[in-house]
Amino acid sequence: MRLLILHGPNLNLLGEREPEVYGSQTLEDINNEIKNYAVAKDHDVRIYQSNHEGELVDYLQKNRFWAEGVVFNPGALTHYSYVLRDAIASITPPCVEVHLSDISEREDFRRISVIKGVCATQIKGKGLQSYLEAMDYLQENL
Ligand code: DQA
Repeated sequence: MRLLILHGPNLNLLGEREPEVYGSQTLEDINNEIKNYAVAKDHDVRIYQSNHEGELVDYLQKNRFWAEGVVFNPGALTHYSYVLRDAIASITPPCVEVHLSDISEREDFRRISVIKGVCATQIKGKGLQSYLEAMDYLQENL
């Protein structure tokens, strides 16, 4: 499958950012694992990170006819970005929402996901494995 893997704000600082919450792997480590998994599962992946909401929208739109599925960790934008919700709802490829941490077990504001309703499913709290499971979900269910 052709899969877009999107990382939102502050995920570029993985490894040094709150390692007790997000672990010690850097974004590069995670992306390398995703790329290895994609090769093993015969997926073609495009991976992108941005700290800017509009750039994430632009990237989704730009790749909307290429992608057959989207794996999206929007970081804190998850909790309030109707712009991202509309962007996901506006395109055909299905999207799986992923989080490294378990957002249901943290601060109250993190329990709300405004994109959940336009995503095929939400996978959280499994670190790198959240992304890999999302890739499997797209392959198996859609
Ligand atoms: C996150 C959870 C968000 O609440 C947070 O703002 C992030 C990372 C996660 O992967 O656990 O930036 O999406």
